[in-house]
Amino acid sequence: MDFSIKTFDGKNAIAQLKGGCIAVGIFEDRKLSEHALALDLDHVISNAVKSGDITGKAGTTLLLRNTGGRADRILLVGLGRQGEVSSKDFNSAAQAIARSFQTLGSSDAIVALPLDDVKDRDATWCLRSVVIALRDSVYRFDQLKSRKDSAANGVRKVAFAVPATASATAKTAVTQAAAIADGMDLTKTLGNLPANVCTPTYLATTARELGSEFGMAVEVLDRKQIQALKMGSFLSVTSGTQEPPKFIVLRHMGGKPKDAPVVLVGKGITFDTGGISLKPGANMDEMKYDMCGAGSVLGTMRAVGRMKLKLNVIAVIPSCENMPSGTATRPGDIVTSMSGQTIEILNTDAEGRLILCDALTYAERFNPAAVVDVATLTGACITALGHHNSGLFTRHDEAHDALAAELIAAGKATGDTAWRLPIEDSYQEQLKSNFADMANIGGPPAGSITAACFLERYTRKYTWAHLDIAGTAWKNGAAKGATGRPVPLLTTFLINRAGK
Ligand code: BES
Ligand code: MN
Ligand code: ZN
Repeated sequence: MDFSIKTFDGKNAIAQLKGGCIAVGIFEDRKLSEHALALDLDHVISNAVKSGDITGKAGTTLLLRNTGGRADRILLVGLGRQGEVSSKDFNSAAQAIARSFQTLGSSDAIVALPLDDVKDRDATWCLRSVVIALRDSVYRFDQLKSRKDSAANGVRKVAFAVPATASATAKTAVTQAAAIADGMDLTKTLGNLPANVCTPTYLATTARELGSEFGMAVEVLDRKQIQALKMGSFLSVTSGTQEPPKFIVLRHMGGKPKDAPVVLVGKGITFDTGGISLKPGANMDEMKYDMCGAGSVLGTMRAVGRMKLKLNVIAVIPSCENMPSGTATRPGDIVTSMSGQTIEILNTDAEGRLILCDALTYAERFNPAAVVDVATLTGACITALGHHNSGLFTRHDEAHDALAAELIAAGKATGDTAWRLPIEDSYQEQLKSNFADMANIGGPPAGSITAACFLERYTRKYTWAHLDIAGTAWKNGAAKGATGRPVPLLTTFLINRAGK
């Protein structure tokens, strides 16, 4: 999908814009937006509104033809009550536009919505909402179907009408939003691909492709090199599978060479059977999504590359399969992590923390400004927060409160929200082991928090945050599929850091 900006000057110039379709806003109580008024030649729009064919309720639409203007069609879009348009109203309007555009006979369209009428939101936010909704509506995952859905119809070129004074801001907003959408597409596809295609080697190849497309340095360590680093914890997870593990490092050095980087660490379990602590069979297919942390880190790197972001960002991805077999790790086995700390593996299904802890130790070598790990870590996080918020965990001191605030703000700005949960010493006690420095599980209470507490023990040399995306990375049921989250949150966090 191709996006551009069309500027106009003066009150009626919007009526001069040519195109297959122009989308304008209608408020409740028969109120026309400024652009709708300007396009109301021969009263076609006010008559449609008077007739009751469109009420202005947020998310409703009405398509008009033969409107006397220069655009072939006008799409009226309900925005809700004027002066009270909420971000939810605007998002549902954006989704309604996306739905209508998909079925139009025209391949190009103009979006001329009011961009300064949404409560607590600016034009950048509005444009991002529309771009992401449009891109989401055209995303397809049909590469493994022999018959593709025919998608010949629909709008492919979208121009945003903005006043000339706002064109520079709008251009940046649309470029950034399209980069986020590109990142989300990659994240969705990596997630949706089955585990027999999306292997650790496949993730490594994807990283190499990003590296050559955007000039990022890529390192892929294989089992021997992982052994040389003494990542005994990571290696214990891969011991039950034939599939070769990979440890992937991808560097975008967009800042000054000496600036401390932000390191993103993504859990890359390409399939999680649970290992010897085998999972029940129902819905086990969804454990192909257990690499969505890695997928979202790669998606974010794609967005960062597209934007040529002026910031040093390093992706670190430990990737393997968690399988049961005669060579698999047993419950009770004790392993030594790269940090030297020993771990009693009481449950082989708590494997995410076992691969992440070694990656977090590895991250020390970059002297990071901050490390954010992203993982489909615990089912307990779905119990705690459902599918709306990702879980956010950091220590509770000034530097970490600041990092948490940055991440929460980036989530709020994009609708890709996170909710902070506590990490306290009282929870750490649940990880006590009689035989090693710690156990890898803390029992049923507060499962997401004890998982975060485990990771915390490997991150004391830098500022660190952990995102548990178990509830947000994919949807189940009829709409089963990866969401592309938390690429909007992470990318916006990095954009804000680069602007500092
Ligand atoms: N990948 C799972 C977490 C998960 C489960 C995410 C379901 C999304 C949906 C993780 O590796 C895991 O199995 N965690 C265990 C931890 C437990 C053994 C302490 C869990 O959540 O049950
Ligand atoms: Mn598991
Ligand atoms: Zn897992």
